Amino acid sequence: MLLDVKNLSVHYYTLSGVVRAVENVSFHINESEWLTFVGESGSGKSTVAHGIMNLVPSPGKIVGGHVIFDGKNLVTMKNEELKKIRGKEISMVFQDPMTSLDPLRKVGDQIVEVMVEHGVEPEEAKKNAKELLKSVNIPPDRLTYYPHQLSGGQRQRIIISMAMAFRPKLLIADEPTTALDVLVQDSIMDLLDEMKSQGTSIFLITHDISLAVERSDKIGIMYAGKLMEYGDVDAIIENPLHPYTSALFASTPDLWSDKKIYAIPGYPPDLREPPSGCRFHPRCQVFKERKDLKGICNVKEPKMIEAEPGHFVACHLYGDENGNSA
Ligand SMILES: Nc1ncnc2c1ncn2[C@@H]1O[C@H](COP(=O)(O)OP(=O)(O)OP(=O)(O)O)[C@@H](O)[C@H]1O
Ligand SMILES: [Mg+2]
Repeated sequence: MLLDVKNLSVHYYTLSGVVRAVENVSFHINESEWLTFVGESGSGKSTVAHGIMNLVPSPGKIVGGHVIFDGKNLVTMKNEELKKIRGKEISMVFQDPMTSLDPLRKVGDQIVEVMVEHGVEPEEAKKNAKELLKSVNIPPDRLTYYPHQLSGGQRQRIIISMAMAFRPKLLIADEPTTALDVLVQDSIMDLLDEMKSQGTSIFLITHDISLAVERSDKIGIMYAGKLMEYGDVDAIIENPLHPYTSALFASTPDLWSDKKIYAIPGYPPDLREPPSGCRFHPRCQVFKERKDLKGICNVKEPKMIEAEPGHFVACHLYGDENGNSA
């Protein structure tokens, strides 16, 4: 196992209250495995990613759990040691690519700088930078360009090439293809696939469920700071267990069918005061229809159980009343 996230909780201490952005989230990623998290905006996906890197921005704080990467707990690790791991063993492509490149400096200088920071000789770094650009199908002369002289897709490919530079064990890509057209999106997914085939594990975050399904080995479904369901992608697509997962899939447009798109009633909750019990219960159709679930879903927090091998779900419809697997 490469990454083991156990009961990770991250809160943001804002002036208007404590935002419980990620609560008791557990999952793992094996070597050369691709896990994708999907979920509505604000469900805590980016916060999980920042939590893994132990880079939660202020006023956020990891308040519980651990992140074991290659046998070491990143939550308790000293900053000096973390710095050596970040960018080298774990790379992250952040959600907003424009914030990852300095608009005032040539992209080549920026790539070289990252390499030199990690101990590569400047001459060697220049050579490597050319190779890197070629590897993502960008002519090497673009090294002398400023970020604004490149297209959005080229910029994103350069950022990914920087993330690939040290052949990290884990690549975290937070919405790397938002705002890019489908062809460019495909080429970026191909790049991630290629990295995976060379041994890198991928943790992708996306809104696009079809994208998640196409490439991943495992998927995780986040809702209001909780991981609702997680496991083998085929098992979840064929047999979604959580009512939220089913609702999310039903609300996804399908080009090939003319079925009506379902809209999940209500809104995601305010994470300063999340609902008691299961955070999805106020919007859950099953809870609404089944009187026997009153006093359970709205009171007790469901535990994540392994409903079938490799398929985990946090919902009172599965397992016994103690949250143990059936
Ligand atoms: N810096 C911050 N300060 C306060 N609250 C924050 C901060 N960053 C995120 N949050 C809150 O934490 C929750 C989770 O946010 P996060 O950015 O992780 O969601 P997300 O799933 O990545 O959303 P999106 O799909 O829009 O990127 C949200 O309720 C958000 O308002
Ligand atoms: Mg995000």
